[in-house]
Amino acid sequence: MPPAAMTERPTSLTGIKPTNEPHLGNYLGAIRPALGLSATYDTFYFIADYHALTMVRDREAMRKSVYDVAATWLACGLDPSATTFFRQSDVPEVFELAWVLSCMVATGQLERGHSYKDALAKGEAPNAGIFNYPVLMAADIVLYDTNVVPVGKDQKQHLELTRDMATRFNHLFGAGEELLVVPEPLIGEAQLVPGLDGHKMSKSRGNGIVLFWPQKKLRKTIMKIVTGSEPLEAPKEPAGTLFELTRLLTPHVADEMAERLRAGGYGWGHAKQDFFEALDAELAPMRERYEALRADEPALDAMLAEGAERARVRARQTMTRVRHAIGMR
Ligand code: TYM
Repeated sequence: MPPAAMTERPTSLTGIKPTNEPHLGNYLGAIRPALGLSATYDTFYFIADYHALTMVRDREAMRKSVYDVAATWLACGLDPSATTFFRQSDVPEVFELAWVLSCMVATGQLERGHSYKDALAKGEAPNAGIFNYPVLMAADIVLYDTNVVPVGKDQKQHLELTRDMATRFNHLFGAGEELLVVPEPLIGEAQLVPGLDGHKMSKSRGNGIVLFWPQKKLRKTIMKIVTGSEPLEAPKEPAGTLFELTRLLTPHVADEMAERLRAGGYGWGHAKQDFFEALDAELAPMRERYEALRADEPALDAMLAEGAERARVRARQTMTRVRHAIGMR
């Protein structure tokens, strides 16, 4: 039985759910760090559309969001000739592996899943997709022999479950061999980017700074971030949402901001303007690319289809190994 595919470089993989337009938390927590890995890793980045189905019940919204996320990745610098870039739903092997992995996890572990528990706590009646969400996510990761998964801290539990499922599979069917690669989460500095209300920035909470808002709207939103109300002359403590966002985006701008705030004579309005300028300097060139990419859906489809072809090559190799190990063929 051959071990997991050995490519020359380790593999980095991550996915984004097309549930709304991507925000600054997605960018700082996952997109920017993931793109930074492309020089040293074999990269597999994808759009987790079947995960979005747990929440998105509108065909047009789903269709639109998939293109929004695709154009975002590309505008941020993803090179589709160097990265395997695809839609989750174009690789049906993932569902076969999800079934296999579901047989490696106890229902009690899934009952402790954050999203499932939160839905129950809110009095909702979560669908079984929400319950099984971590299994499909584990399959996404394991299918491509992933070594590292750049994500925000909110995905840590999913990675722990993935590791459990892969380890259990190896224990039961691999006789000590690593038939399935056990991945590591890669949680960077921007673990939990705060949203406009100080809570974790999240699509469902509506507290996000959408990455490609027009410049005017971006500035207006930043100016509304709640800060201290000390008089201009007073020295101020560099803390709170605005300062934290600046620190995560551009540490050097934050260092200067901290100095000025402590010295006094520099108001929160100035700090907002400085944050806006730093953010806009990073986003403006991407925003322009985004508009052009987003306007050409057939080109996005072609790129994703090509990526899916490449993704399926590795997916089929993994499934051959898995089927053989479990005695299906
Ligand atoms: P999603 O679409 O909710 O978020 C995409 C990525 O953005 C990160 N993120 C954040 N990071 C820091 N601070 C925040 N406020 C913040 N908000 C979001 C998330 O941690 C994530 O990395 N389950 C995944 C999608 C997925 C996936 C996968 C990811 C499906 N299969 C396999 C990795 C590997 C999700 O809901 O991401």
